[in-house]
Amino acid sequence: MKRWLSAASWAVSAVLLAGLTLGGAADHSAAFTDEAVAADHFEASKVGAEVLAAGGNAADAAAATMLALGVVNPASSGLGGGGFALYYCAKDGSLTFLDFRERAPRAADAAMFDIQSEPSPGPASAPSQLGGLAAGVPGEPAGIQALVERFGRLPLREVIAPALRLAEEGFTVSEALSKMGKAFDVQLRQDTVMSNWDLGLGALLTRPALARVLRAFAQTGAKVIYGGIIGQEMIASVQAHGGVMTLDDLRAYRVRTREPLETVAFGYRWVTAPPPSAGGFTMIQSLSILERAVGESPEPGAPLLHAMAESWKGPFLDRQRYFGDPDQVILPVEGMLSPDRIDKRAALAAEGNPHPSADYDFPVEWNRGAALTPDNAGTSHLCVVDSEGNVASVTTTVNLPFGARFTAGGIVMNDEMDDFSRGGGKANAFGLVGGDRNLPGPWKRPVSTMSPTIVLQGGEPVLCVGASGGSRIVTATQQVAMNVLLHGMTAGEAVAAPRIHHQGIPETLRVEELVPLPAELQDALRGRGHQIAPIHNVATVQAIQIERGSVRRLQAASDPRKGGRPAGR
Ligand code: DON
Repeated sequence: MKRWLSAASWAVSAVLLAGLTLGGAADHSAAFTDEAVAADHFEASKVGAEVLAAGGNAADAAAATMLALGVVNPASSGLGGGGFALYYCAKDGSLTFLDFRERAPRAADAAMFDIQSEPSPGPASAPSQLGGLAAGVPGEPAGIQALVERFGRLPLREVIAPALRLAEEGFTVSEALSKMGKAFDVQLRQDTVMSNWDLGLGALLTRPALARVLRAFAQTGAKVIYGGIIGQEMIASVQAHGGVMTLDDLRAYRVRTREPLETVAFGYRWVTAPPPSAGGFTMIQSLSILERAVGESPEPGAPLLHAMAESWKGPFLDRQRYFGDPDQVILPVEGMLSPDRIDKRAALAAEGNPHPSADYDFPVEWNRGAALTPDNAGTSHLCVVDSEGNVASVTTTVNLPFGARFTAGGIVMNDEMDDFSRGGGKANAFGLVGGDRNLPGPWKRPVSTMSPTIVLQGGEPVLCVGASGGSRIVTATQQVAMNVLLHGMTAGEAVAAPRIHHQGIPETLRVEELVPLPAELQDALRGRGHQIAPIHNVATVQAIQIERGSVRRLQAASDPRKGGRPAGR
C-alpha cells in the first residue's frame, strides 16, 4: 500500500517514470525468497547473484558486485576510488563498519588548493576535481580484500573472476554511462586509456587495461596495487598529472574498522555510517528530531515534508563546524546528539513555517583538542541479502563522474580530494562548505555523506538501504527508508517516489524535476514559506526490504533514476 501520493498524482508520476529517461523503470524492482542483490546496474546485480548461487555469502557477493560496477560503470566507482561497507553477520548479530575511504597523500596541506591556475576545459575542472592533485589514495582494493577476508567464504580470485570476465569479454554501454561519457568527453579524450572507449549507447566495451589489473589482483591480492607493479605505474601516472602521491602513501594505506552510529526511532533500530561520514549522523539526528516534532506515526504529506526539511538544517550546520577525519580531529559526537539539543531543534521544526538555518545553530561545549597524529598506517550503492540472513550495505565511489578523469596503471582515479574544505569558504561540487576541521592534511580522510544503512526491528534486519548523489545521499536514503517502514510502500514504490532535499545552505528546498512532487504538495510547502527550486534528481537509491511472514520475502529495488535492476532467486 502506498499512502504518500494520491492515486491521481501517483499515476502522473508513474507516467513520468515510464516516459522520461527512466529506462529501467519497468524492471526496477523484484521479489525474491532466498537471496537478493540490488545494484544500480543489472550486470553488477547479476554478478552478485551468480556469486551467491556459487556458494558465496553476502560479503563475497558485495565484493564481486563492487568489482563488476567498477568495470561496467567507471564513471561511478572502481578500484581507483573508495567507500564504506556496513555488514550484518547473521550468526552472531554483529554489525561491522569498514571504512575504505580514500585519504590524502602525506604531502597534502591545508593550502594545497588555494592556487590560481588557468581553468582547464570541460566541467568540474578545479584542481581538487581534475588531475593528479584531485586524487586521494584509493581504498577500494583494500576494502574489497578486507570484506572478503573478514566475512566472506570464497577465495578472493573467485570473487574477482566475474568482473575479470566482463572486462575481457565486454559489456553493453548503459544509458547512464553513455550520458556521463558525453558530458565529460572533452576530458576523457585526453586520457590514453579512456580516449579509446566507445561510450555510445549500446556499444560493446571491453576494458583490457583493467583486466590486467584484475588478473594481478586475483593472483597476488591488493598488495600489487599498494606498492607492487600496478602501484608503481599508478604513482608514475598520478605524478605525471601533477599529483603529489607517493609509493609510501600507497604502502601506508589502511582500512579502518569503526563503530557504526545508531539510534532507535519510530520503533526501529537504525544503524548507519559514523564519521568520517556526516551522512549517518545527519540521518539519525533528523529521525530523532522528527520523532519529537511530528510524533511516532506521522502521516505522509506537507507537514511531514516541512518538518523533514527543517530537521536537516541543524545537522548540515554541525557538519560544517565540527566534522573532519575522526582519526585526526576530535568530534563532539555525544554533544551534537544530546537530547537537549535535539529537543530545541525539534521545537523549531514543529512550528508551521521554515526557520533560517542559523536558528538551528546550537553550539556544542567542545574541547577542540590538538590535531591527532595520523597513524602510520560518480558513486554507487548496493545491497545484498543472502540465504543465511547476512546483509551487506555498501557505498562505493570515485566522487565526480570518472573521478579525476585520468587513468593510472589502467585504473580510473578518484577526485575525492574535492570533499575536503578549502580556505575562503568555497563550496565543493555539492555546494558543501566545510570547516577548518576538514581542511586537507597528511593522510587525512575527507568528510563524506555516504550513508550505507541497515535498519533492524526485534533484533533482525528489515531493510538494507543507501544511495549515491553527494550531499543528497542522506536525505534520499532517509526518505526511502521512511517510505518503506513508516508509509507502507514496497521497496520498488519507495525508491521510485518523488523526493525532496534541503542541506541548510543554501536556504532552498529542492524538488525533483525527474520525479516531481505533486503540485498540491509543492504549493502547500510554498504556502508555509519554503523557497522551492528544482533539481534534476535527488540521488540514486538501492534498497532491499526483508519481510519475515510465514514466507520470507526479499523486496529488492534499484533506482529507476539510474536504470538499475536487482537480481536474485
Ligand atoms: O563521499 C561523498 O559524500 C561523495 N564523494 C559522494 C559523491 C557522489 O555521491 C557522487 N555521485 N553521484
